[in-house]
Amino acid sequence: MSSVKTAVFPVAGLGTRFLPATKSVAKEMLSIVDKPLIQYGSEEAEEAGISKLVFIVGRTKNSIIDHFDKAYELETELAMRGKEDMLKIVQDVVPEGVDCVFIRQPEALGLGHAVMLAQAAVGNEPFAVILPDDLIYNAEKGCIRQMIEVYEKHHASVIGTQTVSMEETHMYGMVAGPQIEERLAQVEEIVEKPSPEQAPSDQAIVGRYILTPAIFDKLKQTERGAGGEIQLTDALAELRNEEPIYAYSFEGKRYDCGSKIGYLQATVEFALQHNELAEDFKEYLKQLEL
Ligand code: G1P
Repeated sequence: MSSVKTAVFPVAGLGTRFLPATKSVAKEMLSIVDKPLIQYGSEEAEEAGISKLVFIVGRTKNSIIDHFDKAYELETELAMRGKEDMLKIVQDVVPEGVDCVFIRQPEALGLGHAVMLAQAAVGNEPFAVILPDDLIYNAEKGCIRQMIEVYEKHHASVIGTQTVSMEETHMYGMVAGPQIEERLAQVEEIVEKPSPEQAPSDQAIVGRYILTPAIFDKLKQTERGAGGEIQLTDALAELRNEEPIYAYSFEGKRYDCGSKIGYLQATVEFALQHNELAEDFKEYLKQLEL
């Protein structure tokens, strides 16, 4: 049984980069081939043994709640028509033993604020945070499972990181600190969206965290930071003064599905691995003669 039982999905962001698609549809419901981004995230959590999914939703995100709810009409219809395989796909969105909790974030005050709202649902235990825009693929062991293993060894917060080019530092939380093991560094500096000149390294935070519950007190004291929002990164900088925090360079491939190019890359690569589509799609790409 995993020592981390809860995953928090902060999904209240407006998704302006995908307008008009995201005018009425949550950006996390955009699908890669045939599955919405949010479900790739929930499956990564489930693969790691997590059994409680906490979604922090905004006003336009009812489609996310519907997706993780029972779909009586659809399920009855599919059962009546004997479409057992499709019924299973629908029912497997929330597997047996997994509970979903939905919490409204009344104002878009940032990632830190969203995580703070999860406190009552999380309790006094370590928990995962997954930003579904960051789709991370690893066929053998998901990113959150890898990070829980690090947590179980060090009993401290773990942040998922990857190397980025210095021109991109303004898009990420950036961390720096001494390497202590393969893929693992101790965080000494952590700053949200610095300019290349101010970035402490080229190690960027991606949307995966394992956090100790001590973060909640820090979040409550955190004032608005970059972009006028309450930043999780700023609360982590405070937490670091009291507890060690580790940066883990995960094994796997990340697609930034919050950007159009990353979304398209994920779509093409997932289609090329899809059971039913791969062959036809490969043929199609070949005849495009790019
Ligand atoms: C958030 C975090 C940032 C992190 C990024 C990863 O930023 O605040 O530290 O690097 O996610 O995707 P956002 O992309 O929500 O602006």
